[in-house]
Order: sequence, then structure tokens, then C-alpha cells
Amino acid sequence: MSSWSEEGPLDLSAMGITQVPRHVAVIMDGNGRWATHRGLPRVMGHKAGADAVRRVLRTAYRLGVSHLTLYAFSEQNWGRPQEEVTRLMELLLHHIRSEQVELMERGIRFQGMGSLERLPPEILAELRDFEARSSSNADMTLTLALSYGGREEMVRAARQLAEEVAAGRLRPEDINEERFKQHLYLPALPDPDLLIRTSGELRVSNFLLWQIAYAELYITETLWPDFGEEEFAEAVRQYGRRDRRFGLTR
Ligand code: FPP
Repeated sequence: MSSWSEEGPLDLSAMGITQVPRHVAVIMDGNGRWATHRGLPRVMGHKAGADAVRRVLRTAYRLGVSHLTLYAFSEQNWGRPQEEVTRLMELLLHHIRSEQVELMERGIRFQGMGSLERLPPEILAELRDFEARSSSNADMTLTLALSYGGREEMVRAARQLAEEVAAGRLRPEDINEERFKQHLYLPALPDPDLLIRTSGELRVSNFLLWQIAYAELYITETLWPDFGEEEFAEAVRQYGRRDRRFGLTR
């Protein structure tokens, strides 16, 4: 891959992009089908998916997206065959390690989101170490949702609030959206403006259920390993044409 700085920022008006979403979240689906269509083992689809991650991260960065959140592994994915889970974890560890120099050079902050304590200790240690070292990077934030589930996140928040009430530190009438949000995994993460889902399924699959309340959706038939610069730019172009009303009139 050529250096990002050599490529520089993209010319948005030439690309027909009128507005860049601050936060793009992505459900990266279709790795398995991509591999199966080629008669390859599923893990090859995940490997090709990791290449797509690099392309999309680079494009998001060059477009000026400040937050990119990727659904890399759901709570439910633990139920996949052990062999696939192991290979996915190896792949994640490899990429968390191999991308660090590049991300640090670009000023990208890295963070994990989810029931991270369920991850293998080696991955958790690497992730925490990279989170700490990249914590003052301010050009962009890359968040990997790992062992993540939206319902699990909200149940956890509800439990924490209930504990505060039970301990007499909080009155039920003081629970509001802002207070609830403070108990999500990453309270400081802005809500996604744009949610991209690949491989054509019309569902949100337990991803960022609280945070996507007003996200614009871009759903494409393209399988994740085939998703690249052009289509990411197309999603952003379409986002610029949407009329976001947040429940209000125009
Ligand atoms: C969904 O495809 C994809 C995943 C469960 C894993 C996502 C992982 C990667 C893109 C690779 C590594 C990621 C990083 C951040 C380096 P699927 O297997 O559900 O596809 P299918 O629906 O066709 O079976």
C-alpha cells in the first residue's frame, strides 16, 4: 500500500460530495459468501475482508471522516465453529499489531468496544496497550466493535443504573437519555451519522442499537471483501443528499 500522505486529501467537490459524515459505522457482512463463491475456506473471506478494512479506513481518512466504527466480531459470533473463531481472533491480533505504525503515523486513535473481557488475554493485552498508546491521537478515531452486542450494552447500562439506585446514589426520576448514555461502552463516541451494511441483508444485527437512532442507512449488495474506495465514496455522496430531520419538520 502506498503512503497515505503521498495521496493527500481527496477533492470532495470533484467527487460530488457535499457533506462528510462525522461518524461512519459499518456492518461488514459477506466474507463467508465471498469465500464460498470462490470455493475457498471461510477464513480466506475474512482475510480478504481485512484488506477491505484497510481500503475503507484509508478512504474515510482522506475524506475527513473523524470516526469510523467497524463491527468486527459480535457477541453472537462466539457461537460460530471453534476453528473459525480461532482464525478470526488470530487475524484480528495480526492486524491490531501490523497496522499500529501506520495508524500512529496518521494520528489515528484506536479503541475497542464491547465485552472485551471475553477476548483471549493476548488480544485484550495488545488492544489495551494500543488504546493507551494511541489515546492522544486526534486526527481520526477507529473503533473496533469486538465481542459487541447492542442489547448486551443496554442491559449492562440498565444494570449499572439499577445498582446506583439501589445504593441510594441515584433517583429513578433522574434517569434520562444523557444519564443512560454515560453507561454505554464508549459514552464519548458521537452517534453514527451514516450506517453502511454490505451483502444486502436488510437488518441491523444488534449493532449500536442505541446510537443509530437517527443514522442514515446505506445498504449494498456488494460483499464486504469487494467493498472499496469507490463505493465508500458513493455512500458518502448519497449521505450528502439525505434530508436529516431528527423527527422534526423542515
Ligand atoms: C461477516 O461476514 C464478517 C465477520 C463476522 C468478521 C469481520 C472481520 C473482518 C472483516 C476481518 C478482520 C477485521 C479487521 C478489523 C482486521 P460473514 O462471515 O458473516 O459472511 P457471510 O454472511 O457471508 O457468512
